[in-house]
Amino acid sequence: MESAELFSEERSAEVVAASLAATPDPRLRRVLTSLVRHLHDFVKDVELTEAEWATAIGYLTDTGKTCTDTRQEFILLSDVLGVSMLVETINNRAGGGLTESTVEGPFHMVASPPRALGADIAEDGKGAPCLVTGSVTGPDGRPVPGATVDVWQANDEGYYDVQQPDVQPALNLRGLFTADDEGRFWFRSIVPRHYPIPQDGPVGRLLEATARHPNRPAHIHFEVSAPGYRTVTTHLFVADTPYIDSDAVFGVKPSLVREFPTVDDPERAARVGLPNPFRTVNFDVVLRPAGAHAQED
Ligand code: BEZ
Ligand code: FE
Repeated sequence: MESAELFSEERSAEVVAASLAATPDPRLRRVLTSLVRHLHDFVKDVELTEAEWATAIGYLTDTGKTCTDTRQEFILLSDVLGVSMLVETINNRAGGGLTESTVEGPFHMVASPPRALGADIAEDGKGAPCLVTGSVTGPDGRPVPGATVDVWQANDEGYYDVQQPDVQPALNLRGLFTADDEGRFWFRSIVPRHYPIPQDGPVGRLLEATARHPNRPAHIHFEVSAPGYRTVTTHLFVADTPYIDSDAVFGVKPSLVREFPTVDDPERAARVGLPNPFRTVNFDVVLRPAGAHAQED
């Protein structure tokens, strides 16, 4: 056997990469080979100690053990390391005025209830009332009638319904809307509050060890889809929320931040079925036609 094929500190990555050369699936071969190179580079860069390696294995083991049917600690770890947003962004390059995407998050765990346009999704009526309006168009500005607009959000204390099954009505602050003939949608809700991501597991320990806060800025989740268009999963962020510049999962993109101005107009309030005064926000969503590539701005 040639000595070049044996493992050594200097040639560790090449030797392991060579062992992958016969992987039949070319994509798997490329991904694993690159992963091995970067992992070996990383270990050499920091000169990882055996104790640190054992700590890392223990940490990943705990992360796996924290996962349940309703909790995915590995995705949360990917979120706080910015990997979820990087994968999301690489695979959904927008440009050309298309609505940018952001992470889906773990709280879309139940199907949103179909609701009529104009419905109030705040089943318990708690919080600052808000009228949400918007439109769905293609990049040419043509409306997308009948687009599906799925929304979910936290309440004014920063909790989703599924986190407070004994406090909030089921399906509170969720709704599945169908845009009208001109691609418009509107519904009543409340202004959401910022909230912390789960901190009672390995990800919480990582945040604490790195002196990071666990909070996400206030947002409303949107998933907008229509036949012939690529679905966009995104958020609408409240401009004046705390943590808009330091989202624990790096989800904020400037194009997704909106003011929620207060309207003091009793007649309009009566017309839209909200108490006066109320907040408003508009979110125009631009979908990418299926098969179209991203344009540079
Ligand atoms: C969310 O916005 O619901 C979320 C996203 C990532 C991690 C935790 C929560
Ligand atoms: Fe959220």
